[in-house]
Amino acid sequence: MVKHFLDISDLSAAELRAILDDAHARKKARLGWPKGRVDADAPAQDRVLAMIFEKNSTRTRFSFDAAIRQLGGDAIISTATDMQLGRGETIEDTAKVLSRMVDAIMIRANRHEDVERLARAASVPVINGLTNKSHPCQILADLQTIEEHRGDIKGKTLAWVGDGNNVCASFIHAAARFDFTLNIACPAKYKPSNADMVFAAESRARVTVTQDPEAAVRGADVVMADTWVSMGDLDHEERLEAFEPYQVNEALMKLAKPDALFLHCLPAHRGEEVTDGVIDGPQSQVWDEAENRIHAQKAVLAWCFS
Ligand code: CP
Ligand code: NVA
Repeated sequence: MVKHFLDISDLSAAELRAILDDAHARKKARLGWPKGRVDADAPAQDRVLAMIFEKNSTRTRFSFDAAIRQLGGDAIISTATDMQLGRGETIEDTAKVLSRMVDAIMIRANRHEDVERLARAASVPVINGLTNKSHPCQILADLQTIEEHRGDIKGKTLAWVGDGNNVCASFIHAAARFDFTLNIACPAKYKPSNADMVFAAESRARVTVTQDPEAAVRGADVVMADTWVSMGDLDHEERLEAFEPYQVNEALMKLAKPDALFLHCLPAHRGEEVTDGVIDGPQSQVWDEAENRIHAQKAVLAWCFS
């Protein structure tokens, strides 16, 4: 059976725990190694990963490229517009062709449904590198960062301040699978989707949604933010106005636990969703978080190939 990685909610708690443990182990095992050296077990030796981007990326692009090399494999990267996809070749035909040429496909797409179509038609693993609906690879790196600094994620309280869209959605899925509490603060217009909240309820996940950022952050172990205007959002001015009360600043951070971590998937819009004082301050672990994209994705790739 082909193992796709499209959403955190597609995998069992045990599978996800094993992936996260592998991410921790792989990071520890290569401490101090040059970035280009291959891991001892080289689980992707002779394998090729195709990467397709419909939207901009820095972290996802470079971390997946570094990840597949550290696993002993290689990558081919293209924007969708440079491919015949950009001239109307179907996703299904693209999936069949690439399946004959590479061993796995990572795609960052505008529409989540397109990633699902790609996975249905492909005979190699497909990995979601962010869609309008979710960003599962990001969340694994975030959980790895939290566990490195604060131990087991189980039972922790995470506060999400901002848009209830893709990154937040994957945190909702993760709350169910990793058994942590997730307090979401967002404007009513930008709340999580009904489907994600139904998933949370059916999974008995501890997920709350409020319009009050102070209530969400109070006593939290981790405070997280994301851009107020995601790639593809057109209502820029309206969003800046709606999200203004949702800035993570020094005053808001004071309401969380004194040793609370600050995380942000990046890129950050300093002075909007987060102040310089917070993102550059002692509680911020955003650079570890960015680095962990490599380690977490190596664990995902190894799982897909296993
Ligand atoms: N966090 C994240 O996915 O960053 P990029 O958009 O740079 O890939
Ligand atoms: N929510 C952001 C995340 C970027 C990594 C976006 O979709 O643009």
